[in-house]
Amino acid sequence: MADFASGDRKKADATKLAHAGRHPAEQHGFVNTPVYRGSTVLYPDAAALAAHDMAYTYGRRGTPTMEALHEAIAELDGAAGCLTAPSGLAAISNTLLCLVGAGDHILMTDSVYFPARRFCDRVLAGFGVDTEYYDPLIGGDIAGLMRPNTRLVYAESPGSRTMEVQDLPAIAAAAHAGGALVVVDNTWATPLYCKALDKGADIAIYAGTKYIGGHSDIMLGAVTANEAAWPDLHAAWFDFGNCAGTEEMFLGLRGLRTMGVRLARHMQSALDVARWLAERPEVDTVLHPGLEGAPGHELWRRDFTGASGLFSVILKPAPRAAVEAMLDNLRLFGLGYSWGGYESLAIPFDPAERRTPPAWAHAGPGVRFHIGLEEVDDLKADLAVGLASLAAARS
Ligand SMILES: Cc1ncc(COP(=O)(O)O)c(C=O)c1O
Repeated sequence: MADFASGDRKKADATKLAHAGRHPAEQHGFVNTPVYRGSTVLYPDAAALAAHDMAYTYGRRGTPTMEALHEAIAELDGAAGCLTAPSGLAAISNTLLCLVGAGDHILMTDSVYFPARRFCDRVLAGFGVDTEYYDPLIGGDIAGLMRPNTRLVYAESPGSRTMEVQDLPAIAAAAHAGGALVVVDNTWATPLYCKALDKGADIAIYAGTKYIGGHSDIMLGAVTANEAAWPDLHAAWFDFGNCAGTEEMFLGLRGLRTMGVRLARHMQSALDVARWLAERPEVDTVLHPGLEGAPGHELWRRDFTGASGLFSVILKPAPRAAVEAMLDNLRLFGLGYSWGGYESLAIPFDPAERRTPPAWAHAGPGVRFHIGLEEVDDLKADLAVGLASLAAARS
């Protein structure tokens, strides 16, 4: 048995990844909990039906596959419990709908994943919830934005595309002093590289679509909560009827088993490529918090134990056609949204877009890279061709 109390976090997590949520004795000895397909659960007799206290009562409310996944993610995050949803965005919207109501005020990081922002501005605003966007680098000064009706402070660290690392402990201390809950989208770090609940969050959200699945073949969301936040979240969660597909939950569980080794490789290769890009004349700034001297590096060192494969660069000013020439000449990097799979991806973005002005100091266009599990020298060679195309199209 691993000594989980030894303080050797890395060893404990690696062991948890292999063992958490598995109950072979309940599955005829088979190593993995299988896909339980089902809506109806049969009760043994009328008394059991009336008592309504069986472990499973209806497919939407739980199956052994779902329970195995919940147990495993909760154990990794040191959480009171875990719930899942059909996508990362559904996990975000469900969480917000469970916790806020008319007349409430939300403080949301300006660097948030854009569809979450749109959900607040369109859906929650229509329900009478007021969302205010704050500078992701605000730290403890968020105390000055707290209002009597601030119910929730939402963080995402590092921020989507622009990669700002947030001072979560300072934000959480101010939020809690004002009576608000703290929710953080911890998808980038996963429970392996940031223990968000230990850093002050009450609730951590994961797009399981990314590293938990790990193969770009599922949509899945997960939420974990501490003892304080769990009862309210759990009580309301099932009222929305959003349950993840049972095949997706199985694949999420299977992805978890190898997430540690995949992430270690993503981290190593992404840092290698980031260092290489930092030396390139076409690149203005590399936004990778794990990179020495990069924005957010000190906070990352304090609060994270690793970095995943996603980071951005700001290029020196270049016309859109030059950036497109670069992207069109990449052979190994696919052009596509999402990330967290085994393959490398690139996507262009305008860092000032979808932000509250004045938001951004750099003039050049952004490109977000996901570094996959390919051989890193092959990736650099591919990028070198792309950057040469960029330079040729610019001159
Ligand atoms: C940080 C972050 N959170 C949440 C999501 C939403 O996840 P999903 O695509 O599974 O809805 C994404 C998707 O890209 C994301 O990047």
